[in-house]
Amino acid sequence: MVRKKMLLPIELVNPGMKTADVVFNKEGNILLWDGVALDSLTIQRLKNVGIDEIYVQLDKPQEMSGFNYDEDSPERFRVEYKNDLNSTKQIFQSISSGRRIDVEATDKIVDSIVKKSESNRNIIDTITEVRSVDEYTYYHSINVSMLCMIIGKWLRLDEYHIRNLTQAGLLHDIGKSKISPELLNKPGKLTEDEFNEMKRHSEYGYNIVRESEDVPPEVAKAILTHHEKEDGSGYPMGLTGNQLNLYSKIITVADIFDAMTANRSYKSKDTPFKVFELMQHGSFGVLDPIVLNVFLDNITTYYIGAKVLLNTGENGVVIFMNKSNLSRPVVQVGDRYIDTSVSKIVRIKEFI
Ligand SMILES: [Fe+2]
Ligand SMILES: [Fe+2]
Repeated sequence: MVRKKMLLPIELVNPGMKTADVVFNKEGNILLWDGVALDSLTIQRLKNVGIDEIYVQLDKPQEMSGFNYDEDSPERFRVEYKNDLNSTKQIFQSISSGRRIDVEATDKIVDSIVKKSESNRNIIDTITEVRSVDEYTYYHSINVSMLCMIIGKWLRLDEYHIRNLTQAGLLHDIGKSKISPELLNKPGKLTEDEFNEMKRHSEYGYNIVRESEDVPPEVAKAILTHHEKEDGSGYPMGLTGNQLNLYSKIITVADIFDAMTANRSYKSKDTPFKVFELMQHGSFGVLDPIVLNVFLDNITTYYIGAKVLLNTGENGVVIFMNKSNLSRPVVQVGDRYIDTSVSKIVRIKEFI
């Protein structure tokens, strides 16, 4: 079938439409790939960086008539996210009370996550939001699962691996269901014994999923090794990068990103850029460099077009990410372009 496409003024582009060509900014950098499902935030950000028109696909009759097809709407995303969160909670609670893992229930959550587009901005927006401390593990499990799914898609893995990866992300901390709630939610520093018990969640998780024939062995192995590090300094076995499977490497990147954004979100609004910088410069020897690069390269493009407040009191729009200095992008203020990686004065204070 020949795909129909149409050059549409940005004012007429609606959420749910898909790009029919790569979208470049005025500097010739890629803003969006071909085939990306657009949502209202993306469209707004394209307007912010001065894009006047883009090619959109017109495959679906409803797009031709009403332009109202919105499978990535924030409202729909929120409902699904809440449902998946509740189901995750039930899976954890049922294992805590001694039952076996309900693989059918995990499959339903995996179904709901894998059908989301890797360009769905609601995913990143939700992950960087403040979340309930009491239910941290459930939010974290869903978030890591969604991140694993998008990283898998960015790595162009096939459907089989993306499903496995999404399941592995969802269940990576399932062993925490065997840790006492007092220890799990203990505020402040843990004693050495407590810390050692906490570290055993990888093995507990492995034993929980190993009981089930429906969980592939490479998923079980990824759960066991999700705290191993490339340089062999992780646990429980001190394996090195060449002994870890791709699922495990991807979970580690997703796990660290979600944990860092969760910790920072209570403190400041500069979260995503600071976290990218910490991951870029602080993860040598810890994270797989290829997975990390693919993750950072793709995720940072989500922020092109974002509005920011500068320390000078001015508002600006992020127009270009500096690959070597991710927390210091180029910002447009009025008709000036400020490279915050070069300027000694101008810094981004927060997202607005
Ligand atoms: Fe963990
Ligand atoms: Fe985790």
